[in-house]
Amino acid sequence: MTKQPDNIERPWLPVDLPLEQRVEALLAEMTLAEKVGQTNQSSNLDADVDQELIRSGGIGSSLIASGATAGNERDEGVRVSAINAAQRIAVQESRLGIPLLFGRDVIHGHHTVFPIPLGLAATWDEDLVCRMARLAAAEASMDGVAWTFAPMLDISEEPRWGRVAESLGEAPALAGRLGAAMVHGFQGDTLGGAGTIAACAKHFVGYGLVGGGRDYETIQVGENTLRNCHLRPFQAAVQAGCATVMAAFTDVDGVPMHAHRRLLREVLKDEWGFDGVVVADWDGVGQLVNQGVATDLRDAAAQAIAAGVDIDMVSGAYAAHLAELVEAGQVPLDLVDDAARRVIRLKMRQGLFERPYVETPTSAPAPGSTTSALILEPNARALAREAAAASFVLLTNNGTLPLAANPGRVLLTGPFAHEGEALLGTWTLDGRGEDVASPASAIRARLGGDVIVDDGRFSDQTMHLVRQADVTVALVGEHPSRSGEANSVASIGLPAGQLEVLRAVAAFGKPLVIVVFAGRPLDLGEVLDLADAVLIAWHPGVEAGPALIETLFGDRSPGGRLPMTFPRSLGHLPSSSLARPTGRPVDAANDARTGRYLDALVVPRLPFGSGLTYTTFSYGPLRLSAREMPLHGGSIEVSVDVTNSGNRPGREVVQLYLRDVAADVTRPLLELADWVSLVLDEGAVGTATFTVTPAQLSYHDRTMTLRIDPGEAVVTVGPDASSGASARITVTD
Ligand code: NOJ
Repeated sequence: MTKQPDNIERPWLPVDLPLEQRVEALLAEMTLAEKVGQTNQSSNLDADVDQELIRSGGIGSSLIASGATAGNERDEGVRVSAINAAQRIAVQESRLGIPLLFGRDVIHGHHTVFPIPLGLAATWDEDLVCRMARLAAAEASMDGVAWTFAPMLDISEEPRWGRVAESLGEAPALAGRLGAAMVHGFQGDTLGGAGTIAACAKHFVGYGLVGGGRDYETIQVGENTLRNCHLRPFQAAVQAGCATVMAAFTDVDGVPMHAHRRLLREVLKDEWGFDGVVVADWDGVGQLVNQGVATDLRDAAAQAIAAGVDIDMVSGAYAAHLAELVEAGQVPLDLVDDAARRVIRLKMRQGLFERPYVETPTSAPAPGSTTSALILEPNARALAREAAAASFVLLTNNGTLPLAANPGRVLLTGPFAHEGEALLGTWTLDGRGEDVASPASAIRARLGGDVIVDDGRFSDQTMHLVRQADVTVALVGEHPSRSGEANSVASIGLPAGQLEVLRAVAAFGKPLVIVVFAGRPLDLGEVLDLADAVLIAWHPGVEAGPALIETLFGDRSPGGRLPMTFPRSLGHLPSSSLARPTGRPVDAANDARTGRYLDALVVPRLPFGSGLTYTTFSYGPLRLSAREMPLHGGSIEVSVDVTNSGNRPGREVVQLYLRDVAADVTRPLLELADWVSLVLDEGAVGTATFTVTPAQLSYHDRTMTLRIDPGEAVVTVGPDASSGASARITVTD
């Protein structure tokens, strides 16, 4: 085990000073070059190659960007010793001994990979998401990671955009609460506690609006929509103590976010009081040149530091030009001080000055195993399996699911039957395919010889096997390489060829269950009609196979609710629950007025918040404790009795939506404000109770001032965004 440093001599930095005084004491000792060093982030720092840079204090943090799977080796010792070697130079050989900060994209688990974030969002379960993040932080910190670039909080209503897979969905309240839970899981109660890592809310802000869903595209959005929608989950994360925020690659109405002084410095830092670190995205500072707002790297550095970007991720613009810009009087020293101060503050909060080294006891893998005893522990796998099942969303079911214990001959077919690695999803640097139990292995373990598993390729052979089977389970959908960063699609149907085979399989008229793996909402119209049951399984992570098979056979019930609207077709985009009223509104009930399409219904295929399970629920009437709510200090209790009307226990996610009827700006027709989960035995009745407050109706008006209007509001409680019971309330002055 690496020892922490024995009392490094820093007489000017007494350990018992309050944090801010310690930060200032260190800052006072730093040269301009050393301050700039703290703003410079390298990637894949190598102690042998970069010794001089580290020793001179020319680098503050490093992004561990390499894939652990690249060499197919899982050897924490190699990485940890490399990190400790670089750290030793920084701490013991640089003038001020400022430790380095190592970051890595730990997005939905580290070695133990959980469902993709969109799947985690489908759980609508803050506690589960928090436990996922805590486990990921524990595993990652053992590998020397002190900082992750998660959660991603981009409001995502554009399914063509590949990065919706990394998001927590379209609703600010859902993304905000789950994002805050993730921050809490990563950072623990106090940053710096054992097994914690710093979180990063990204990408600030508006990235989800990329035009046409094409990654990195320019976006058009006004500040009011940003404030009332896209900024909200970020504010929730900041309020939850998120240590860092990452700037988005895009521009916002012509101003690239890496140069967006108004949003980064004035809103995030000044107005919200964020005292953490703003980090650039990969080469985001340098890309100001590509975006055509900076003439060269020097100009880019000047604009980014002025905007409030504290750390330059890998572009080298700060390292090359900031000091000289200050000396030339073109960048005030205050700006560099502000950036360096924030980085130092973060490192002190993390306790890096006291514990700079990774302390992982490097346990050797068991003989014959490539997996260390410290990772993928049974408890970790159990949590990953729980999360996977909780993320599955049952879209249709005529009673075919769950499958009977002895279902006859089951055929498992489709391109994902034998997959392991593909079921981990996008952004899994440290997950390994061989750790994933495939659906084929999980169903064989359960049914032995009673299952037919084809070779996973849809072919004529598939039809022969369907003929022999009593029930077919077809595993279709998208490979993760079709989602994630830079992976946008122009069509949101199933990948080429799959629908044709499903049609042929369905033509046999035998029971057909379709499981769709995907990193985005798809146009599933015909698929829903072909099958007896359709389950969307996202990319479920390391426990994909067992979680799926246990769910299909009813050991577990699918628990998820859609975190994004599933549109009726590509031509219907945008299609989400964020719609605001027009002057001539669509009458969704009979689709009869303007705002409709001539050639199609306008309502979504599957609404936000929807999802079935293996039992059913019925809702009683809405009860309100009052109809009037005083603007100052008032509240109304809204409750509804929910009965488990089926014959199994189950979980229902009861959702509260609000609408401000007359506001200063257009407000959503239906905005998710809150939800509660009820777990009910068959026949049992539970009560979902919500406390509606004026604050839930607050919004930013035309002058960007936060306000609450006296007047009418509509409260709706139901199982999804398209159904439920509504009542009018009045906010009184
Ligand atoms: C680019 C991505 O946009 C961002 O999400 C990620 O954290 C960084 N690269 C670092 O890998």
